[in-house]
Amino acid sequence: MSTAINVEHLSYQYPGVDDTPGTVVFENLNLTVEHGSFVAILGGNGCGKSTLAKHFNSILLPSGGKVYVCGMDTADEEKLMQIRRNVGMVFQNPDNQIVANVVEEDVAFGPENLGVASPAIRQRVDQALRQVGMYDYREHAPHLLSGGQKQRVAIAGVIAMEPKCIVLDEPTAMLDPKGRREVLETVLRLNREKGITVVLITHHMDEAAKADRVVVLHKGQVALDGTPRQVFAQVEKLHELGLRAPESTELCHALRQQRIDLQEACLNEEECAKILSEAFGKTFPGK
Ligand SMILES: Nc1ncnc2c1ncn2[C@@H]1O[C@H](COP(=O)(O)OP(=O)(O)OP(=O)(O)O)[C@@H](O)[C@H]1O
Ligand SMILES: [Mg+2]
Repeated sequence: MSTAINVEHLSYQYPGVDDTPGTVVFENLNLTVEHGSFVAILGGNGCGKSTLAKHFNSILLPSGGKVYVCGMDTADEEKLMQIRRNVGMVFQNPDNQIVANVVEEDVAFGPENLGVASPAIRQRVDQALRQVGMYDYREHAPHLLSGGQKQRVAIAGVIAMEPKCIVLDEPTAMLDPKGRREVLETVLRLNREKGITVVLITHHMDEAAKADRVVVLHKGQVALDGTPRQVFAQVEKLHELGLRAPESTELCHALRQQRIDLQEACLNEEECAKILSEAFGKTFPGK
C-alpha cells in the first residue's frame, strides 16, 4: 500500500498571546497512514489529536518537519486546493458543518466550490447521498434531521468532493447510540467498499476496535500503534495513559485479575460471550 498521509518529524507550537509562549503540542512526531486503511486515533484530552487532524489538510502548518498528503507537502500553497480535495474533514458538531437550507444543496456546496460542472454535481450529490443512506431526505431541511442524519449529510458533503481520504474528528461525540452506529457503519462502508482512507479520532473504544489500526497518542507522541487486538491487549498500559480498553476487554481483564483462567483477550461482546461460555461451559438446555 502506498502512503496517504506522511508525518515526518512534525513539531507544532500554537502561537503565543502577548508574552506568553503558545502550547508546544508536537516535537518530532512521525506517523504514516497507508492508502485504503482505516486508522483510529485515540488519546486523552489535550494530547494533540485535533491539532494533528488539522495538519492533514493544511488548516495548520508545521512549525517544524513536514506533513505530506498523497505525496504533496501541506505547506506548499500551490497544492492547497488539491490537498483539500484529497482530504475531507468531518468535525464533532454537525450543525457547524451544514451551510444550506436543503440537504442536496448542502451536499452540492463542496463540489460547486471546486468548480465541478453542473450535471456532474447532480450525479455526485445523488451518489454521495445514496452512499450515506440519506438520498430519500435530499429535499429535506437539514435542521429538522436527527444528529446522526445531519452527520451523515456532512459526510455526504465531503465524499461529493471525491476525496481519497476522510479525517473525522470525534464525529459521534454529540450523537446518541443509534446516531453513532449509523455514522460508524457509513464510514466503515466507505472504507471497505470505496477504498477511501479513513482517519477516525474518537474517545469510543468500541469504534476504534473496528479499525484496521489503532494509534494512541500521549503527550504529542505515539504511545501505542498496532491492530486493535494488539493495542487493546495492553490494558494496564492503556490505564497508565488514562484510557480504557473496550468494555468487554476490560471485563475479561478484570476476570483474569481474579485468577479466572481465560484464554485470550476479546474486543467485543460476541467474543466476550464466546470466551466466557467456553470458560464456564454452561449453556441453557436446548442451546
Ligand atoms: N487554538 C489554540 N490555541 C492555543 N492552544 C491550543 C489551541 N487549540 C488547542 N490548543 C492546545 O493544544 C493542545 C492540544 O489540543 P488538541 O485540541 O489538539 O487536543 P485533543 O487531543 O484534540 O483533545 P480533546 O480530546 O479534548 O479533543 C492542548 O494543550 C490545547 O490546550
Ligand atoms: Mg480534539
